[in-house]
Amino acid sequence: MVHARSGAVPQRRFVEFAGVQKSYGSVKVVSDLNLGIERGEFVTLLGPSGSGKTTCLMMLAGFESLSAGDIFLDGASIGSMPPQKRNIGMVFQSYALFPHMTIAENIAFPLQARRIGKAETAERVARALAMIRLDSFGGRLPGQLSGGQQQRVALARALVFEPSLVLMDEPLGALDKQLREEMQYEIMHIQQRLGVTVVYVTHDQSEALTMSNRVAVFNGGKIQQLGPPKQIYEEPVNTFVARFIGENNRLDGTVRAISDDGCTIDAGSGRSIRAVAVNVSAAGERTTLSIRPERVVVGPAAANAENCFDATIDEVVFHGDHLRMSATVCAQPGFIVKIPNSAGISMGSPGDSIKIGWAASDCRALDHG
Ligand SMILES: Nc1ncnc2c1ncn2[C@@H]1O[C@H](COP(=O)(O)OP(=O)(O)OP(=O)(O)O)[C@@H](O)[C@H]1O
Ligand SMILES: [Mg+2]
Repeated sequence: MVHARSGAVPQRRFVEFAGVQKSYGSVKVVSDLNLGIERGEFVTLLGPSGSGKTTCLMMLAGFESLSAGDIFLDGASIGSMPPQKRNIGMVFQSYALFPHMTIAENIAFPLQARRIGKAETAERVARALAMIRLDSFGGRLPGQLSGGQQQRVALARALVFEPSLVLMDEPLGALDKQLREEMQYEIMHIQQRLGVTVVYVTHDQSEALTMSNRVAVFNGGKIQQLGPPKQIYEEPVNTFVARFIGENNRLDGTVRAISDDGCTIDAGSGRSIRAVAVNVSAAGERTTLSIRPERVVVGPAAANAENCFDATIDEVVFHGDHLRMSATVCAQPGFIVKIPNSAGISMGSPGDSIKIGWAASDCRALDHG
């Protein structure tokens, strides 16, 4: 007989979505979300527009109700706890600073709401201003700051009350590319220094790969893949992730055979390609192969690769640090190869025939898409 007390209490992660669903009317926008986040982790929800990222963040913050399931924070159910009781910091794309309050007053706001004393508030605001390198800006109004500076103030305001969890929804979306990249590092460094847990939302895959400990790739309200950036990039589990993250070559074919050490794909006209069997299960299935452009070898060296084909060059473009070639391989155009620009490099010219090769381990057989 099993006694209730002997049953193990489920070990919850610091943040845990457990069977969470969200529907608007008959439309399900988040379906059966199960996601655990460790304390101190930086996890990014990445996905195209409308995939349900903001909805998940809003349910965690308490601004959206759950249609089913529950969310746990530090072991406690928060599914029906009001937002202000959750003690979560938030940063949005629009800085949402109070325009009539000074920068210092904006940062002090969450402390006053928590009835922190004057002296401690002043000290914490000074520390927060130093953290975002705007020490001398406390007396200015938000309108007197640049976009990047305002976003740093929004970040300081979200962190000043020392929440253990901070949510950020496209916080860098309004900034230009260079400033965005600087701010990515700034946010990462502050997060690492404070050890705060961050759930970050973006549709920018390079931002997600740069900043996160783990990335959850969303599509259609479901996590397609969850893992560290390297794994998401190197080992996509399906065609959606392979297409969404970075650049990938795709070749269509039919599974000829699957064995323990991989699979053989028929790419037409008697051509076979060796690949890793990721998302294929039986001979005869249609599949899409995915191969990263930087893993492709060209010229005489290609002859040593497990997969080697004669290709026709369609275009070669100089990109400064690398050359980018588009070629027709296995009768399929648009195959991209990137070659680092080292001394004496030449890829040939349009119309030339060239050997192209890649390792079976760099070629993933995925669902046909
Ligand atoms: N209040 C609402 N009523 C009805 N549908 C909604 C509501 N809020 C969101 N949706 C729908 O839910 C889906 C997910 O929206 P959500 O805002 O979570 O997407 P997202 O991944 O954050 O997209 P984006 O990158 O564009 O911000 C969308 O199809 C959206 O139209
Ligand atoms: Mg959104």
